[in-house]
Amino acid sequence: MANSKVKIGVLGAGGRMGQAILAAISDDPRLALAGAIERAGHEAVGRRLGPPWPASMSICSNHGPLAIASDVLVDFTAPAALEATLDAACDGKAAIVIGTTGLEPRHHAMIDRAAKSIAVLQAANTSLGVTLLARLVEDAARALGPEWDIEIAELHHRHKVDAPSGTALALGAAAARGRGVDLARVSDRGRDGITGERVPGHIGFGSLRGGSAPGDHLVMFAGEGERIELGHRVESRDIFARGALQAAAWLAGRPAGRYVMDDVLGLPAR
Ligand SMILES: NC(=O)c1ccc[n+]([C@@H]2O[C@H](COP(=O)([O-])OP(=O)(O)OC[C@H]3O[C@@H](n4cnc5c(N)ncnc54)[C@H](OP(=O)(O)O)[C@@H]3O)[C@@H](O)[C@H]2O)c1
Repeated sequence: MANSKVKIGVLGAGGRMGQAILAAISDDPRLALAGAIERAGHEAVGRRLGPPWPASMSICSNHGPLAIASDVLVDFTAPAALEATLDAACDGKAAIVIGTTGLEPRHHAMIDRAAKSIAVLQAANTSLGVTLLARLVEDAARALGPEWDIEIAELHHRHKVDAPSGTALALGAAAARGRGVDLARVSDRGRDGITGERVPGHIGFGSLRGGSAPGDHLVMFAGEGERIELGHRVESRDIFARGALQAAAWLAGRPAGRYVMDDVLGLPAR
């Protein structure tokens, strides 16, 4: 992709992240906007993008032409949209960065299938800081051992629809990897009532919702008489947009396969 701008197609262009991505593309000289779409029937369809984009550019609802026109699609929408989006990306031979959260095993199976024919980078958190935090959490969990209780707390704005956040789960997975256990077998997701004592070795999650917070995460290692806290606070969702676009610029022209944010940062595979 040397000497030419990477053409980005924005999905969910009327949403909070879609808007942040559009603004970040206009600030990045490596990138050009191929187009922007929303789901059919969305109030934003037909709306002009406005400055700095050409007057002819408006939000459309058709995946197919956008995928053909784009080097990389950037998807921050909803899990229900993923299947159609991946089909369009494969047909149009566009790479894709998937930032949508709330994905279930069947969505990951779809991503694995698509990654046989296109380059796909899926990340529950596209911030570079959280990518590094996950490494620190994995190392800490490995070093400290199971007698240190691991609890993960997250705070998000009142509009978020999934819990725990995808980032909290990714941090839990990092901690579980460090301990050599399967997160699905050790996670405690939401305690209420007479729960009994904490189960040794479990990884606990707590979700707070309110206001406009774009996303705070805290991973606590609680030992006897001391605690270690590793955390990350987001001041603006622009960081997710910039990270997603850094990922898109990196992904353009890569061979088919499944990639992660660690690859973008050049962190060694584990
Ligand atoms: N990876 C990261 O770093 C990161 C960071 C922030 C957010 N996220 C995730 O990104 C996603 C979007 O977040 P957001 O805050 O931008 O949400 P949002 O403001 O609700 O935007 C999502 C957009 O996608 C549209 N959409 C919903 N269902 C759809 C469907 N089935 N097909 C096509 N489009 C659909 C929505 O339309 P309607 O308005 O009609 O619902 C909306 O315009 C969420 O999953 C969120 O958790 C990830």
